[in-house]
Amino acid sequence: MTVSKTTTLADRETRSALVRVWDIAIRLFHWSLVCAFAVAWISGDEWDRVHEISGYFIAGLLGFRIIWGLIGSKYARFSQFIYKPSTVQNYLRDSLTRKAKRYLGHNPLGGAMVIALILALIAVTASGIAMTSDQFWGVEWVGELHEATANITLVLIALHIAGVIFASFEHKENLVRAMITGFKRQSTE
Ligand code: HEM
Ligand code: HEM
Repeated sequence: MTVSKTTTLADRETRSALVRVWDIAIRLFHWSLVCAFAVAWISGDEWDRVHEISGYFIAGLLGFRIIWGLIGSKYARFSQFIYKPSTVQNYLRDSLTRKAKRYLGHNPLGGAMVIALILALIAVTASGIAMTSDQFWGVEWVGELHEATANITLVLIALHIAGVIFASFEHKENLVRAMITGFKRQSTE
């Protein structure tokens, strides 16, 4: 009898134990953020009420994520995915030569992107809220800051999605599915 040496992605994932990496709060946070960001982006130019509600909702999500980064489950904690800049740089170099190590939680580059996304979203929501305040209402630079930070966030999101796709191929695992189900394969093969 001949046994095929080639293993498919499905084989690997059923053979090795699965481990819960993303808790329910992280998954709800992520997909709510994706929907709310889409609504805020689309409504930015005209539907002021919808825009402000989705923006405040995002501000609430960010508040939750910061607390969860301090007290949440193992892989949700900032301490789990904030690495030294040199580690992030080395990971990027290894990734480009397809030698990067696999991580169960966020890899060093992914972790840096999570922080960049959170900071960018804080800047967009804070400038948006300032635009509606008595103090900054009608002040041109605040509006310009809001628009610029919204555009920067969009660029980061594009890089974030590209990174997720790249890392999924690199380690032959479906990271989008993991962000839906919460599970990843345990083994590091
Ligand atoms: C992540 C959340 C947000 C995103 C992505 C976002 C994005 C945008 C974009 C793209 C525009 C259009 C800019 C332009 O072309 O002039 C805009 C305008 C605006 N945003 Fe936001 N925004 C967010 C949150 C907020 C929040 C929280 C508030 C206030 C509570 C807010 C208040 C405004 C206002 C007052 C305008 C001007 C609307 C107008 O000129 O009719 N935004 N936003
Ligand atoms: C449909 C497009 C998107 C897909 C497929 C996607 C996919 C993912 C995946 C797979 C992860 C986990 C990464 C890992 O395994 O290390 C993740 C994390 C994350 N994504 Fe996205 N993402 C999308 C859009 C967005 C958008 C629009 C935002 C921001 C507005 C965003 C913000 C984040 C954040 C903050 C995390 C970190 C999760 C946490 O630890 O809380 N994503 N995303």
